[in-house]
Amino acid sequence: MERVLGLLLLLLTLAHAFPATPEPCELDEDGVRCVCNFSDPQPNWSSAFLCTGAVDVEFYGGGRSLEHFLKRVDTEADPRQYGDLVKSLPWQRLTVGDARVPAPMLFGVLRMLGYSGLKELTLENLEVTGTTLPPLLEASGPDLNTLRLRNVSWATGGAWLAELQQWLKPGLKVLSIAQAHSFNFSCEQVRVFPALATLDLSENPELGEKGLISALCPSKFPALQVLALRNAGMETPSGVCSALAAASVQLEELDLSHNSLRDTASAPGCDWPSKLNSLNLSFTELEQVPKGLPAKLSVLDLSYNRLDRKPRPDELPKVDKLSLEGNPFLTPEAHSEENNSGVVTAPVHSSLAVGVSGILAVFQGAGLFA
Ligand SMILES: *[C@@H]1O[C@H](CO)[C@@H](O)[C@H](O)[C@H]1NC(C)=O
Ligand SMILES: *[C@@H]1O[C@H](CO)[C@@H](O)[C@H](O)[C@H]1NC(C)=O
Ligand SMILES: *[C@@H]1O[C@H](CO)[C@@H](O)[C@H](O)[C@H]1NC(C)=O
Ligand SMILES: *[C@@H]1O[C@H](CO)[C@@H](O)[C@H](O)[C@H]1NC(C)=O
Ligand SMILES: *[C@@H]1O[C@H](CO)[C@@H](O)[C@H](O)[C@H]1NC(C)=O
Ligand SMILES: *[C@@H]1O[C@H](CO)[C@@H](O)[C@H](O)[C@H]1NC(C)=O
Repeated sequence: MERVLGLLLLLLTLAHAFPATPEPCELDEDGVRCVCNFSDPQPNWSSAFLCTGAVDVEFYGGGRSLEHFLKRVDTEADPRQYGDLVKSLPWQRLTVGDARVPAPMLFGVLRMLGYSGLKELTLENLEVTGTTLPPLLEASGPDLNTLRLRNVSWATGGAWLAELQQWLKPGLKVLSIAQAHSFNFSCEQVRVFPALATLDLSENPELGEKGLISALCPSKFPALQVLALRNAGMETPSGVCSALAAASVQLEELDLSHNSLRDTASAPGCDWPSKLNSLNLSFTELEQVPKGLPAKLSVLDLSYNRLDRKPRPDELPKVDKLSLEGNPFLTPEAHSEENNSGVVTAPVHSSLAVGVSGILAVFQGAGLFA
C-alpha cells in the first residue's frame, strides 16, 4: 500500500514538473534535425525558434487551418527586410505538412525561402486554398534541387503545377508527386523544366495511361532521364510506350513496378525511347514476358511476378542484367499458396507436398486449371 502511494506521489510530482502540453518542437542531439508538431489546440508557436539552427526542418500543422494567420501576415511585404535573417538559416531540407494553407501564404513563404540555401522541399497532406497573383519577378523562390509533393490538393485544379513553378528557380532536378488530386495540367501554361532529370509519379493509382499522357506535358521535360510510375494504374507496357511516344519523352530508366500489368498480344508496335536502358517490371503480376518490350536493355527486372516457366531467349530483349527472382518457376511451393488456379494447398514442407505442388505448377503451366 505504501509503495502504491509512493508511486502516486511520484507521478503527481512528475506531472507537475512536466506540463500537460509538451513543447511542439524538438531538436535532435546533434542539432541537425528539428521537428515541430503543432497539433495542440493552443500551440506555442514561438517554440519554432528552436529550429533556426537546424539543417533538416519539419513543420506539421496538426491538420489546422492557417487561414486566420493571413490577416496577421503581410504577404505583400518586401521580403528583402527578412532577407538577412533568412540567408543566415542553415536549412537544407524543409517539410511542411498537415494543414490547410491559403495560396498567398504558401507562395509568400516560397518567396522568402528565395533568400535561403534550401535544396529540398517536401509538402505533404496540405490543402492549398484560394489563388494568388503571379509573382512580379519570375522565379523569386528557392533554388531547389528536389521538390516532393504528397497528398497536396489545390483550389486551382490542373493549373497548380504552372502556378507553383513560377515561384521556383529553374534548376529543379527531382520532382515527385504522390497521391495527387489533379494531373490534368494546363500544359500550355507549364514552362520548360530545363534541368529536371527525375520525375516520380508513383503512388497515384488513379493516374493510368490516359492520365500519364496529360501529365507528361510534351517538350516540357527535355532533360528527363528517369521516370518512376510505381503503383500508378499502368495497365500494359505498350500503353506506357504509347504515352511516352505521344509526349516525345526521352528516358534512360523506366520503373513500372507495383502495377498490375496485362500482356497485350495484339498491341500495335510502338517505338520506345531510344536511350531507354533500364526497365523495372517487378511486382506486376505478369504471367509471361510481355510482347513489344525494347529490343535491347542493360537492366530488365522481372522479379516477383507469376512466371510459370523460365522465359525463352526469344521472348526476352537482349539484356545484360536480368532479374527473375521470386517467380513461381523458381519456387514451386510458393506458387501453390496462390489462389489464381482455384487450387489451395497448405504450404507443407514435406518432400511429398513439394512434389505435388510441382506437379500442380506444371498443370498450371499447361493451362489445365486456367
Ligand atoms: C502530431 O501529433 C499528433 C498528436 O499527437 C499525432 O497524431 C500526429 O501523428 C503527429 N504528426 C506527426 C507528423 O508526427
Ligand atoms: C514557448 O516557447 C519558447 C521557446 O521555446 C519558450 O521560451 C516559452 O517559455 C514557451 N512559452 C510557453 C508558454 O510555454
Ligand atoms: C490528405 O490530406 C488531407 C489534408 O489536406 C487529410 O485530411 C487527409 O487525411 C490526407 N490523406 C491521407 C491519405 O493522408
Ligand atoms: C482538364 O482541364 C481542361 C482545361 O485545362 C478542361 O477543359 C477539362 O475538362 C479538364 N478535365 C478534367 C477531367 O478535369
Ligand atoms: C525494381 O522495383 C522494385 C520494387 O519497386 C525494387 O525493389 C527493385 O530494386 C527495382 N529494381 C531495380 C533493378 O532497380
Ligand atoms: C486465398 O483464398 C483464401 C481462402 O479461399 C482467402 O482467405 C485468401 O484471402 C485468398 N488469398 C488471396 C491472395 O486471394
